[in-house]
Amino acid sequence: NILPVLLAGGSGTRLWPLSREHYPKQFLTLLGERSLLQDTALRAQAIPGALPPLVICNEQHRFIVAEQLRQAGIGNARILLEPTARNTAPAAAVATHFAAREYGPDTQVFLMAADHAIAEQAAFQRAVAAARAAAHGRIVTFGITPTRPETGYGYLQTGRPLGDKLFEVVRFVEKPDASTAQRYLDTGGYYWNGGMFLFDAATFLAELQRLEPEMHRLSGEALAQAQCDLDFVRLATTPFAACRSESIDYAVMEKTDRIALVVLDAGWDDVGSWRFLVDLPADDADGNVLQGDVMVERAHNNRVHASSRLVALVGVSDHIVVETADAVLVTTQHEAQNVKAIVQRLKQAG
Ligand code: GDD
Ligand code: MG
Repeated sequence: NILPVLLAGGSGTRLWPLSREHYPKQFLTLLGERSLLQDTALRAQAIPGALPPLVICNEQHRFIVAEQLRQAGIGNARILLEPTARNTAPAAAVATHFAAREYGPDTQVFLMAADHAIAEQAAFQRAVAAARAAAHGRIVTFGITPTRPETGYGYLQTGRPLGDKLFEVVRFVEKPDASTAQRYLDTGGYYWNGGMFLFDAATFLAELQRLEPEMHRLSGEALAQAQCDLDFVRLATTPFAACRSESIDYAVMEKTDRIALVVLDAGWDDVGSWRFLVDLPADDADGNVLQGDVMVERAHNNRVHASSRLVALVGVSDHIVVETADAVLVTTQHEAQNVKAIVQRLKQAG
């Protein structure tokens, strides 16, 4: 038995102006025809013998999630609703309690970020199969070969090999500073954490009990006292809100010594900023990537996403332009990360 769990409660603000608080990144169609959530759900469904997926998201997004799953032809998903965001550790805790209660403690749980892109499905499925075989008593992570000193990811230092593309992990460091990330890159033997975790429910719950006993108890209560409402399971507000807000990476992964890593070489991209457009194949001979209603003239190497109006570029190069009905972003690939500064200022201005 394997239960895919889709973590779909993040905000993804660096894709402003397309991502908004009421419509975060996982629900956007950025590549191809389906949203990142829909692609993730279909990847989950393709795992041999997978149970109907469990999606865990904020209560305010319940209808978007239900509608997107229905459109993707996934009619049997369960949807757990969080009354308030508490980051990924409480979400993972509740989902694992759910797996143990509904399907038994030996059930494998596959936590998946719902807002990543994976280009090569066969390679992904091979890595999942290898992770399943290695998961007994271990939390298996998916390691991405690093290409830059990215500070937004977790880093996994590999130890003893356990098999083909499979290692013990001696250390997990979440979001190191820039000089540490550079050192990891220079030293070698480190992978980026791909943001997916595979384990049997009993193993994770035992580690949670040891490392975060309060969270273990409160998340269990939030599920035990949950209310069913149509297809939704509403977690109980008081115990869930009492959980410490923390990511699974800091709460469990940095502290546990039961981690393994399977190398994932499948065109993984966390779609962390508009920079992801830079890696897409060009749509014309001048190296431009053009999404939506766009015209270019004497313009090279631009990335343009138009969602509601015609956008025209004349005589400019190396720009990223994102148009929506009420806001337009103009930036470059080197500055795309800094969009979050605008989001901060908008938040402060209320
Ligand atoms: N249900 C729920 N509730 N889901 C959440 C919440 C929450 O409060 N917060 C975030 N999520 C979801 C996001 O939607 C995303 O799918 C996933 O959990 C990961 O959360 P992020 O907030 O995007 O984490 P991150 O990108 O900073 O870091 C993680 O991913 C990196 C790879 O992209 C870490 O696991 C890093 O170690 C990893 O390298
Ligand atoms: Mg992320």
